[in-house]
Amino acid sequence: MDLARKVASQAGLGNVRFHRLNVQDWVEESQCDCIYSRFLLTHLADPLRVLRQMWRAIRPGGLAVVEDIDFGGYFCHPQCTGFDAYMRLYRAAARRQGADADIGPKLYGMLLGAGWRDVKVNVVQPTFASGEGKQIALLTLLNIADSLLEEKLATEPELQSAIDDLTRFTDDPRTLVSLPRVFQLWGRRECVMPPNTALEPTAAALLRSTVAAVRTGAERSTLSVDGCGSAFVR
Ligand SMILES: C[S@@+](CC[C@H](N)C(=O)[O-])C[C@H]1O[C@@H](n2cnc3c(N)ncnc32)[C@H](O)[C@@H]1O
Repeated sequence: MDLARKVASQAGLGNVRFHRLNVQDWVEESQCDCIYSRFLLTHLADPLRVLRQMWRAIRPGGLAVVEDIDFGGYFCHPQCTGFDAYMRLYRAAARRQGADADIGPKLYGMLLGAGWRDVKVNVVQPTFASGEGKQIALLTLLNIADSLLEEKLATEPELQSAIDDLTRFTDDPRTLVSLPRVFQLWGRRECVMPPNTALEPTAAALLRSTVAAVRTGAERSTLSVDGCGSAFVR
């Protein structure tokens, strides 16, 4: 937390606050304009609960965004035995803790199940020939080494051999190491107006033209209506 505060301050951000919270205990109602979560849901035993809560916590007109991983899309090139062992061991360790390293492609259906609307999806996959990004697979394997041994998911010689192999591979400038495939999804909560809301003539006309524009495939439109902020029309 101290590091996060320091980085925010160095970046000149005076309007940032940090709270320590178990997200599984989080309860909030229509408070936020935007909520963003990265590489969190993969760790949770009940991600659906958190997704429902995210949707509840954004205001009408607000935006919810998640990014999370798909180990199924993880790759290196050429083939590397240490990398294969890392993938197998990480997935097994995650499963033991009730987590899901392959949550990425499941998220679209989960978001709809959690009540999200107008969900969009994109996939990215950073891939590295050098630099810090290339080290992430090896560093992750080193970080989970103790728990792999404690959980008896690998013997010490197996683990050491995987670490040595992946270290050589990572140091080789001719090889490529990706991150897991990353699923990015977002949805915007509609501002629902009561059915018989009387609109000022100009607002009503604007609403009709917005609906027409959206129906003809134009970019989604926003419309300011009274204190409501914005009405999203599909
Ligand atoms: C892989 S890190 C991702 C960190 C950061 N969001 C990022 O994208 O770099 C996973 C994070 O999830 C947090 N986390 C895991 N379970 C959590 C929970 N139940 N409540 C809150 N945070 C949790 C961990 O503390 C860790 O910071």
